[in-house]
Amino acid sequence: MSSGEFVSNCTADSLAQAAQLLKDGGLVALPTETVYGLGADATNADAVARIYKVKGRPADHPLIVHIHSMQSLNDWADEVPSYAISLARDFWPGPMTLVLKRSILAEDFVTGGQPTVGLRVPDHAVALALLSAFEKIGGKGIAAPSANRFGHVSPTTAQAVQEELGGYLEEKDQILDGGPSTVGVESTIIDCTSDSPRILRPGAITIQMVEESTHLKVSKAETDIRVSGSLENHYAPRASVFLNRTPKSGEGFIALAEIQTPESVIRLASPKNTEEFARLIYSALREADAKGLNSVVVAEPTGDGLALAIRDRLMRASKGR
Ligand code: TXA
Ligand code: MG
Repeated sequence: MSSGEFVSNCTADSLAQAAQLLKDGGLVALPTETVYGLGADATNADAVARIYKVKGRPADHPLIVHIHSMQSLNDWADEVPSYAISLARDFWPGPMTLVLKRSILAEDFVTGGQPTVGLRVPDHAVALALLSAFEKIGGKGIAAPSANRFGHVSPTTAQAVQEELGGYLEEKDQILDGGPSTVGVESTIIDCTSDSPRILRPGAITIQMVEESTHLKVSKAETDIRVSGSLENHYAPRASVFLNRTPKSGEGFIALAEIQTPESVIRLASPKNTEEFARLIYSALREADAKGLNSVVVAEPTGDGLALAIRDRLMRASKGR
């Protein structure tokens, strides 16, 4: 049976109700511009524990705390470097998470025991209105990982959240529908705990944008990434994902519109450019599973910026195939 009340018309009233549900320890799946998140009161240990249970995620993986504006930055973080302030000014609300030294508000149950906390102001009207309603009743922030089972494809629609987590949510929990996510891949994660920024996960906020904002050289953490996305078998559908080879008969195929579909191959998406590729990739991978396909071939977009983020996710989804 599927649970989690589906709220398709997010009015001020329904968002006030959702905020109260969070305050009472319930879970609310919410739309963001990157992917849908599974939200809980970031100061409530029991509610946050339920996120881990519903996702089937190991408890030492930290969660991102979503806040309404950079005004709440100092509630959650200590010793914020000035370059992090410029990043927040330039890119919030937006697809960027800053990892900062945590304040006492950020407890072990939300940071996975790390001395740092991940913070983000999402750029989505429903998410911001929910955060604002939550603050009005004393809420400090909403902890929200992507609203998928651990290791699976992130959801970019409320329907995908329901398919993914409906069987694990409680009756009183809610899924807010805010339409399809406009970015489509998860936020850029930037470690701001040393003298210069380090990218832990690539996303729509690119290295170039970070360097322009901070006037600092950005390093890319390749070896010691502590983010869960760096584990094997992430962002993965049931179907096996293969990269950059010719698809065979009966296989799914995702590629830019300019690339033709070979005969008896099942075309799952034909994005016109990199931005559309990011927006469609997760729903196309879900479609492969909905169609019961065993394998799907993706012709990756080239170049850097957002294409780099797409290739990062696909490399993990394909386990290097
Ligand atoms: O776009 C996004 O970031 C979405 C939306 C819902 O905001 N959220 C998201 O959350 O992708 P999640 O939990 O699926 O991925 C967040 C990643 C995890 O791999 C986690 O390990 C990492 O962020 N992370 C969170 N806090 C961290 C910290 N303090 N230090 C290092 N990594 C951290
Ligand atoms: Mg995730």
